[in-house]
Amino acid sequence: MPEGSIYPLQIRTEVRRSDIDAVRRIVESTGFFHPYETAIAVELVEERLNRGPASGYEFVFADSNGEPAGYTCYGLIGCTKASYDLYWIAVAQDRQGLGLGRILIEESERRIAAAGGLRVYIETSNRPLYVPTRGFYLRCGYEQEAVLKDFYAPGDDKVIYGKALNPRFDSEG
Ligand SMILES: CC(C)(COP(=O)(O)OP(=O)(O)OC[C@H]1O[C@@H](n2cnc3c(N)ncnc32)[C@H](O)[C@@H]1OP(=O)(O)O)[C@@H](O)C(=O)NCCC(=O)NCCS
Repeated sequence: MPEGSIYPLQIRTEVRRSDIDAVRRIVESTGFFHPYETAIAVELVEERLNRGPASGYEFVFADSNGEPAGYTCYGLIGCTKASYDLYWIAVAQDRQGLGLGRILIEESERRIAAAGGLRVYIETSNRPLYVPTRGFYLRCGYEQEAVLKDFYAPGDDKVIYGKALNPRFDSEG
């Protein structure tokens, strides 16, 4: 069982220069991602810092005890009216299983709904490594929408999850 507390907890959407290292540290700590995937996660932070909202990347950070412990990155999907992609969600390895992932995903959904979003999509792999991740998405109300066979590699399918948001589910909760 995980030990410790995620509190005091601060949720913020402002992205800081120091988040470049924080995201690298969080993503690496999970042990889930290839170095090239970590590089992409970091690039999205840099893109947001350099281009602001025009980057199309929105972030929610959770600072636990003053230290970034998890985050999400999401954005409106081009050519859709109100569909959003959750590009990344990661919680530092030593902070997992304490409810932080749910707080982050629900806060992201609140903000997406407040911006007029109606649907959220998440993609993941069907590899056994991602069994806990898929369990987490189902637990958070996501439904499996599609499977793209052998998408990542032979035997490694892409699984797409979706969730409809309540349009009245605004930022006030
Ligand atoms: C997936 C991840 C973001 C979840 O964050 P977390 O803080 O560990 O999850 P939480 O503690 O908030 O759990 C939220 C809910 O999911 C459930 N859950 C977590 N793991 C689960 C599993 N393996 N099977 C079923 N349910 C699970 C919890 O029981 C909890 O349910 P509840 O709120 O109804 O009690 C985190 O574990 C992580 O970063 N994993 C590695 C990286 C990753 O897979 N990222 C996503 C791919 S981009």
